[in-house]
Amino acid sequence: MEYAIHGTLENFVNKCSQTSNYIAQNCVLNILSQVTMAVDYIHKMKIIHSDINPMNILLTGNQGTVVKLGDFGSSRILTSDKIVGENCCTPCYMSPEQCFGKPLRLKSDIWQIGCVLYYLITTKHPFVANSLADTISSIVEGVLNISEKMNFYDSDVILLLQELLSRDPTVRPNASAILSNPYILPYVLNSNCHWSKSGRKASNQNY
Ligand SMILES: Nc1ncnc2c1ncn2[C@@H]1O[C@H](COP(=O)(O)OP(=O)(O)OP(=O)(O)O)[C@@H](O)[C@H]1O
Ligand SMILES: [Mg+2]
Repeated sequence: MEYAIHGTLENFVNKCSQTSNYIAQNCVLNILSQVTMAVDYIHKMKIIHSDINPMNILLTGNQGTVVKLGDFGSSRILTSDKIVGENCCTPCYMSPEQCFGKPLRLKSDIWQIGCVLYYLITTKHPFVANSLADTISSIVEGVLNISEKMNFYDSDVILLLQELLSRDPTVRPNASAILSNPYILPYVLNSNCHWSKSGRKASNQNY
């Protein structure tokens, strides 16, 4: 992919948290929809990213509003419905099943999308603790710190956050279902993505 001149989502959120109290809901949902479109695309090709986090999400385009998913260094091709093996990813973005060393599955990426949404809403990384062991405990016990910034968002957005961060992967929506969420769909319809019938992107590379 090209060099993303507007840097990472991590830089963007850091800057936002210095200049304002919270990130506007439409901005959060726009970013979330673009990340989810990228994930939906790779999931349709049976690829698990497995390391979705704000340092691997890049902002480009004239205004920095084009969101791309990068760093496929940990990605895997799904050969059965789940993959047993390496579980390397950024610790506080690990899914509960990754923490337990269970097979990696597409729904692990959905957990990480939930972590990214949490970060956009609260401007804090989820499940951060003093040690790796404590981080893992927080993830597997589902100890999600509630932030007063959640009050700035519609309750349905917070509900979506909770669904994405369901400890049971089967309860998490898949990427296509997230894109059909009434809060996300308008951003998908407004995006410049055009798909051919084969499901491959036909124009305007967005990620
Ligand atoms: N296309 C790009 N445009 C702009 N910056 C990029 C781009 N690719 C990577 N970067 C920057 O480089 C950093 C590291 O890149 P990347 O995530 O690909 O490697 P990495 O995290 O070092 O790899 P690994 O996770 O395997 O250790 C990113 O967080 C980002 O700041
Ligand atoms: Mg990286």
